[in-house]
Amino acid sequence: MESKIESIIEKLDSRISLAHIGGGEDRIKKQHAKKKLTARERVEYLLDEESFEEMGILVTHRCTDFGMENELFFGDGVVTGYGTIHGRLVYIFAQDFTVFGGSLSETHAEKICKIMDQAIKVGAPVIGLNDSGGARIQEGVRSLGGYADIFYRNVQASGVVPQLSAIMGPCAGGAVYSPAMTDFTIMVEDTSYMFVTGPNVVKTVTNEDVTSEELGGASTHSTKSGVTHLTASNDVQCLEDIKTLLSYLPQNNRETTKKTPYEIGNEIRLKLEDIIPDNANKPYDMHEVISGIIDEESFFEIHKDYAENIIVGFARLAGRSIGIVANQPMNLAGCLDVKSSVKAARFTRFCDCFNIPLLVLVDVPGFLPGTDQEWNGIITNGSKLLYALSEATVPRITVITRKAYGGAYDVMNSKHIGADMNFAWPTAEIAVMGAKGAAEIIFKNEIKAASNPEEKWKEREAEYAYKFADPYRAARRGFIDEVIYPKNTRRKLIKAFQMLEGKEVALPIRKHGNIPL
Ligand code: HXC
Repeated sequence: MESKIESIIEKLDSRISLAHIGGGEDRIKKQHAKKKLTARERVEYLLDEESFEEMGILVTHRCTDFGMENELFFGDGVVTGYGTIHGRLVYIFAQDFTVFGGSLSETHAEKICKIMDQAIKVGAPVIGLNDSGGARIQEGVRSLGGYADIFYRNVQASGVVPQLSAIMGPCAGGAVYSPAMTDFTIMVEDTSYMFVTGPNVVKTVTNEDVTSEELGGASTHSTKSGVTHLTASNDVQCLEDIKTLLSYLPQNNRETTKKTPYEIGNEIRLKLEDIIPDNANKPYDMHEVISGIIDEESFFEIHKDYAENIIVGFARLAGRSIGIVANQPMNLAGCLDVKSSVKAARFTRFCDCFNIPLLVLVDVPGFLPGTDQEWNGIITNGSKLLYALSEATVPRITVITRKAYGGAYDVMNSKHIGADMNFAWPTAEIAVMGAKGAAEIIFKNEIKAASNPEEKWKEREAEYAYKFADPYRAARRGFIDEVIYPKNTRRKLIKAFQMLEGKEVALPIRKHGNIPL
């Protein structure tokens, strides 16, 4: 005969087993048929082996409408808890599409809020694996309230602990605003989408025919809208990317990222000498400069396919995690425009929140001219980057590789807005504008009156370039701390970031600044 204690244990066993199969074998098969892992498989893959501790596995919803009282699933469509990634504590929630399509009920939201509250108190990152049909339709406003409870916590956690969102299935309606308020979003190609209103509503309202993929798939959001920072080809890649991204981040805003061991040796990089073309108007790939400076293969690019005229991403320099913001001469000649300014500003603010030092690589001919830019608010949007860099108190170092013209010189982490160390390569041209345009303006009358205007223009252009298109006037004023040989850049940066480790800045007392949003 079964003892009392055995039957008690059995009761628990059966509940846990039921929770583990979520919405049941058939729905799990459907999930796999869509090339998606289940919520539990995702958690299992992401966290260190046997590190996951689940919270709220026995939670069920409280809805009694539409016969819902007879449809109870342990866990209520979301797996929540904590564990470790590479030995570091993280909190996690993974929506279970096999239970009511991963839809969010009041209790489902409470489970997410519980781990978010704890993550803020303890100081550890929150990772959300989203795969949900949105608000639990049977619950109405209670579900909407649940979303708002999460949104509120996203804001409380912002700048306190890193928040990462993976979109691994549907994410629509107001549900998109939680990932949008987290620090990084990563979407899985072909199986995920994000939009505020879906294709059917779009058709009704605007008469546009558009598929879910076109409207809000991974490629749309990684190239057109910039809503997602990263895309992954499948679930496993997505989870791997989360692990890699986390390795560059500290646990919270009171810590710095742990350095990986690095023995400083010969840090000269000769290949940096051969990157800048003889012709100042010829493009080159700033990625080559980045890879010549940082620890081998350590660049983790963010927003790779969006606003490609600026590059942002994390890297390691002598084992230290840094954020890089760099103009890309290969795209729009490296001009700043609306999208690139916002992209770089947001990245800068993230690094500043979490004590990640910033390296800014400059080759910028100015802001992109044109009605499109002006009408889309390049004034407001360009100033976001200026504001973000000016307010950043992390160690900030600039290297001007070639052009630093006009207002963009000021914006791109100039000494004047608080950069700690400003280096320039001998190829740097720091001026109000390019020599050709400058000569045209200041020698306009003289050129017009000349017997050979073209020749006169060239002559004056050469004179202006000789006088201004170099780093030495700026260096004489101290706006540039040192003109360095390109091959020495890595060594200089390692030493300078080391020197700046103890940087502390006292700011004026205020509630918060008013960045031009
Ligand atoms: C309750 C839901 C649900 C939901 C899906 N299900 N969405 N249950 N509430 N929101 C259930 C289905 O009934 C089904 O149950 C199971 O989940 C899988 O759904 P399918 O439709 O079979 O899957 P699929 O064909 O893959 O389509 C997925 C889907 C579709 C595109 C997400 O289910 C869908 O359009 N759902 C409704 C989306 C929606 O309108 N949500 C509310 C948006 S408003 P069974 O029992 O058959 O397995 C919103 C506002 C948020 O979210 C506001 C926050 C501020």
